[in-house]
Amino acid sequence: MTTKRNYAIAIDGPAGSGKSTMARRVAKDLGFVYVDTGAIYRTVGYHMDFYGIGPKDTDGITRLIGDVNIVIEYDADGLQHMILNGRDVTEEIRTPEMSKIASVISAQKVVRDYLLDMQRQLARTHNVVMDGRDIGTVVLPGADVKIFLTADPEVRARRRFDELTAKGEKVQYEKVLQDLIARDEQDKNRKIAPLRPAKDAVHLDTTDLDIEQAAAAMESIIKEKLGQR
Ligand code: DC
Repeated sequence: MTTKRNYAIAIDGPAGSGKSTMARRVAKDLGFVYVDTGAIYRTVGYHMDFYGIGPKDTDGITRLIGDVNIVIEYDADGLQHMILNGRDVTEEIRTPEMSKIASVISAQKVVRDYLLDMQRQLARTHNVVMDGRDIGTVVLPGADVKIFLTADPEVRARRRFDELTAKGEKVQYEKVLQDLIARDEQDKNRKIAPLRPAKDAVHLDTTDLDIEQAAAAMESIIKEKLGQR
């Protein structure tokens, strides 16, 4: 008989659906490690961009990918810090430009292959709440709980806009909405590991929910599912 050592909660969905905010919160409440996998793709994109390699340049990416050494650290607030070859790039990867680069580069097989083991390794060694696009379908298909978060594009764009404005970035709502829709399309239509719900995922639409309500809905789904184990 095999004993199951760790719990895994997979949270997938498009940009602005509330994944990170809620996944972080749920992880804190449960005492699990929160893994934001989008940040890992952003970090790879950042590295390539730094060396002048575009996100579609498969040869260039293949040449440099072995140099990407990523360490994930957490501060006292549970905020995930991305350490790229010894340097903390947590802030730098959060720009609209890096969102676009991450979305394009994440369609590259060499990048997905490189990161797959790293993500699975984290789940092998910790209880995790992992968020992304393909966690329930590809990275952790055996996850104990799978949640697919959605919300109307206008609401997601508004959340993203508020987030960026709060950081002092000058952005236009219309542009944020356009970028978000373009990114949804790219993430949904790529060949490898596209954004889509796992067959056994519970769907949660956060369009009309504030953070408190969405977190409460998510926690009740998780409690119910974990209770069945
Ligand atoms: O969650 P995010 O917005 O930080 O993700 C940035 C991009 O990374 C997203 O547009 C697609 C890609 N991504 C992915 O392909 N697979 C994941 N598991 C997470 C993110």
